[in-house]
Amino acid sequence: MSATAKKQAPNAEDIRARKGGTPLVSLTAYTTPMARLMDKHCDFVLVGDSVGMVLHGLTSTLGVTMEMMILHGQAVARGLSQAMLVIDMPFGSYEEGPQQAFRNAARLMAETGCAAVKLEGGVEMAETIRFLVKRGIPVMAHIGLTPQSINTLGGYKVQGRDAQAEAVLADARAVADAGAFSVVLEKVPQKLADKITAEVAIPTIGIGASAGCDGQILVVDDMLGFFTAFKPKFVKRYADLGPLAEAGIAEYAAEVRARSFPAAEHVFADQAPSKG
Ligand code: KIV
Repeated sequence: MSATAKKQAPNAEDIRARKGGTPLVSLTAYTTPMARLMDKHCDFVLVGDSVGMVLHGLTSTLGVTMEMMILHGQAVARGLSQAMLVIDMPFGSYEEGPQQAFRNAARLMAETGCAAVKLEGGVEMAETIRFLVKRGIPVMAHIGLTPQSINTLGGYKVQGRDAQAEAVLADARAVADAGAFSVVLEKVPQKLADKITAEVAIPTIGIGASAGCDGQILVVDDMLGFFTAFKPKFVKRYADLGPLAEAGIAEYAAEVRARSFPAAEHVFADQAPSKG
């Protein structure tokens, strides 16, 4: 391959094969421009249902719809050529049973071109994951803190401390046995994340888990400082673009009010400038 050759987007089996290798890099994206910025840096990009909170101002992910996931999925797909596209199944689109899950996962794939779907849940979702995988739909699982279940989990708490650890481990085993090609571990203690990573044969993708996971994911607006409503402990701010953007907006507003924008270089003369 030449130095300038673009890499091809990996598929689910390529991601599975990265178990124990160089850590997998992933971020969420919801728009074409952001997808373009991360395409060559990420192994896979997730259109997370976090879009509801990050871009639509919802207070949880529960109000996110299939239509929102499809619209944002199509936008992100236009910005990717080198990273794999994974899309979240929104709350209410898969929990009824395998048939409902298949119908909606197939629709996500057909209408966005995504290579895989992600769904939340462990032991209770194993049958659905098996059904989807057997019918050609690669599934990324998501266990530990599953934000679509905040009302039964009692909030955004760390999952798997003390006596709960066995249950999270059982979830990891169940989704791996069911055929998921990778599993997101959200907000679980570091030691438990390391134990799961050592035990299951599929890559673990950590978010608030451990540097020992097979990969990491963050919500892009969190790590770039655009989403400032709150900052979970597991988020590292790699840039602080929210305040930078606001400063630009404030300067624009001041210049408009002072009539210093637009300036001479931003307006047009009656006559086109001569070419000679
Ligand atoms: O919705 C989302 O963005 C996610 C990631 C945080 C893993 O599920």
